[in-house]
Order: sequence, then C-alpha cells, then structure tokens
Amino acid sequence: MSPNTEALDHWIRTGFREMNTELEEIYFAQDARHEIPADGADLRRALRDEGRDLIKPLLVEGNTDEGFEAAYDLLGCVGLYMAACRRHEITEPSRERTSPLLEASALALHLSMTLGVSPRFASSHLTTNNSAPDGAYRSFTSLEDERIFIDYNTLGVFAYMRAADALRRILPLGVAHPLAVHLFGEAKAALDDVTAWNDRLFRELDADRFFYCVRPYYKPYRVGPKVYRGANAGDFAGINVIDVLLGLCSADNPDYAQILNDKFLFMQPEDQAILKDCMRRESFLNAFLKLHRAKRRPDTYQRNLAAYLEVVDAHGRGAAQHHDQLVTKYIERQAGALPESGLNNLTASGPPLPVLLDSLQRLRDLRTAERRDDIPSRHRELEQLRSTLSAA
Ligand code: HEM
Repeated sequence: MSPNTEALDHWIRTGFREMNTELEEIYFAQDARHEIPADGADLRRALRDEGRDLIKPLLVEGNTDEGFEAAYDLLGCVGLYMAACRRHEITEPSRERTSPLLEASALALHLSMTLGVSPRFASSHLTTNNSAPDGAYRSFTSLEDERIFIDYNTLGVFAYMRAADALRRILPLGVAHPLAVHLFGEAKAALDDVTAWNDRLFRELDADRFFYCVRPYYKPYRVGPKVYRGANAGDFAGINVIDVLLGLCSADNPDYAQILNDKFLFMQPEDQAILKDCMRRESFLNAFLKLHRAKRRPDTYQRNLAAYLEVVDAHGRGAAQHHDQLVTKYIERQAGALPESGLNNLTASGPPLPVLLDSLQRLRDLRTAERRDDIPSRHRELEQLRSTLSAA
C-alpha cells in the first residue's frame, strides 16, 4: 500500500466512520427521519473536504501497479466516500448533470478501467473483500445494525458460494456419476446455511435502523456524468450459477438475461468468468430429463435425482425467505410508512418500488418453480421428474 492509499484507508476506518455515525444519530433523532436536516452541515462539509484532500494526491500519484487486490481495495475506499456523499445529499444525481466529486470520479473511473469492474463500490467491498487488519472491517458507520447487516450478508454470500462450488464440480462428472449425490448433498447443506443466516438476520436486524441508517448508503450515484445503480448483496456469481445449473433460470429468458447483464460489472472478473462459463452448460434439470426419457435409466438415477430435487427445494426456500421476509419487512413495509416525497431513489437499482418488487417476485417464483404461465417457470418439468421418484 502506498502512503497515500494507507492514509485514505485509515481515514475510512476512523474519521469517516465517526462522522457518518454522528450524522446518522442526528437524522434518526428527527421526526422525519428520511430527511437531511440543516443540522450537521459542518460535519457534511468536513466529510466532503477531508475525503477530497486524501483522494487528490492519489490521482496525482497515478497507477502504482500494486496488483488487483490493492486497486480493488482502493476503489472500495473511494466508492464508500462517494456513496456517503450521496447518502448525505452532498451529491444528488437528479440535481446534477455530472458528479461534483471530480477527483473521486476520475480516480474511480481510472481504477475501474484497470480492474474491469464498474467504477462504484460494490457489496463485495463491504463483505467478501473487506479486510480487517486490526480486527475491524470497513463500514460506513459503527452502528450495531450495520454490523449485523454486513455480517449476515457476508455469511449468506459465502454459503451461496459454497453451494455454487459444489454444483460446478458436478459438471465434469455428469448428474449420473455415483459421487454426484455427495456434491448435491454439499450444495443442499450450504443452502440450508443460507436460510439459517437469513433467519438470524431477520430476527436481529432492526427494521427502522436498517431502513433509515444503513440502506441509504446503497443508493445509485454518479461517477463522472453517469449514474451507476446501487449495490446489493446479490452482486456475486454464485447465486446465478445455482439458478442456471439447477435449470430454474436461463439466459434465454430476456428478463433474467437483463439481470445478468446489469450485474456483470458489479462482480469481480473472476466471478464474471465463472458466470460466463456456466451460461454455456446444459442444466442439471435438462440432463435429468434426458435420463428420464432414455430407454434405460442408470442405476444412480433415483438416488441422484432425489438429491438434486432436495437442492432445488432448498434454493427455493432461500429465495422465498429473501422475498417474503427480508424484502417485505425491511423495504416494502418501511416504504409504506413514508410520505410520497420520501420514495424517490428508494431502491438500490433505481426503478420505482412497485416495479422492483414485481421483478423480485418473478425471480422468487422462478427459483421456487411456481406454477405460473407468464414466466418460464420449470414447474411442469420438475413435477414430471418428481413423479418418477414416487414411482420408484
Ligand atoms: C437484491 C433487499 C439481504 C441476496 C435485493 C434487492 C432488494 C433486496 C430490495 C433488489 C435490489 C435493489 O434494491 O434494487 C434485501 C434486504 C435484505 C437483503 C432488505 C436484508 C435486510 C440479502 C441477503 C442475501 C441477499 C442476506 C444473500 C446473500 C440478494 C440477491 C439479490 C438481492 C442475490 C439480487 C437479485 C436476485 O438475484 O435475487 N435484495 N436483501 N439479500 N439480494 Fe437482497
């Protein structure tokens, strides 16, 4: 780490976090918690200027070529700074044509070109790629609810990644391989962990604190002239690898392909490559359908199919929980209590809330393979396969 990078990193972990925390306490004590009051103006100015003064020398320094990790970390620090400026309305995309954070925009764009990722902070900067040299990782605030949110997001993402890894190992073996059953078992156990972490998140995270003091840091913001959508916990390849390999979602579906397209640059290059590779493979669902139609089914068919269907069900449970519990409690119900003026830019991706909720519901229903004819749900094929199990 160059001394300039170290100075920015140190500030993000100290002064920056303290100022955000102090501002959150001011906002949260108001009746209209969604508004930015005149109170705290000095703190906001200090946050903007201190960040800019630390970023300027980094821009002059140029690319110090210290490798992917260092550059990705630096993009995270600049991104957290820009996201906090957006949260405190130091910047506001609908008010401006280009980001007033000139130095931060230039540095973020430069880093993004080098890295092959989007020029804003992604959720991985706070979760899977967030170092803690002194035992504390980077966060916007020191609020307990932000820690709860980041901790359980990270644990959920790791569990999804474990499930995706196990499923990818089946690819060279094929679904009829005698050992595939163990890999399906590993994937199922990992997806059960996802639901266990989500459940803890649901029980421990305070809805008001999340909605008013954590979520606003995940809004879209401008880098240079362009608005980049907000970060969300889904910006890693694993969840889509699971969707596609299980056969529940496919890139042939334009809605789903659009989701993959939108998130591509929010993922790290390594994840981008994994996703691309999975998109060209035959899904396990289609592979089982072929075996089902074959004249003679392999001896492993019944056992492996049962294990595969357990993974499908576990993935569906996680998706239903995300939508029916997390999105409903922490976004939909909270938004319902806001006046019309507070609904602007509510979601991380930008569209109005009803549009977002509808698209999340479709994703949920693809993953739970609901009986729906208006989306390419695999309900029918899965029922067909299930019936061959009960006939055994
Ligand atoms: C996307 C809400 C926790 C996985 C989203 C979106 C919302 C949301 C609203 C749509 C993005 C947008 O705002 O535009 C929440 C809430 C959570 C939570 C309120 C908890 C308080 C988690 C956790 C995971 C997760 C713990 C799992 C690791 C995803 C994924 C997506 C997503 C994968 C992308 C869309 C998809 O593929 O389903 N979330 N989320 N979320 N979230 Fe969460």
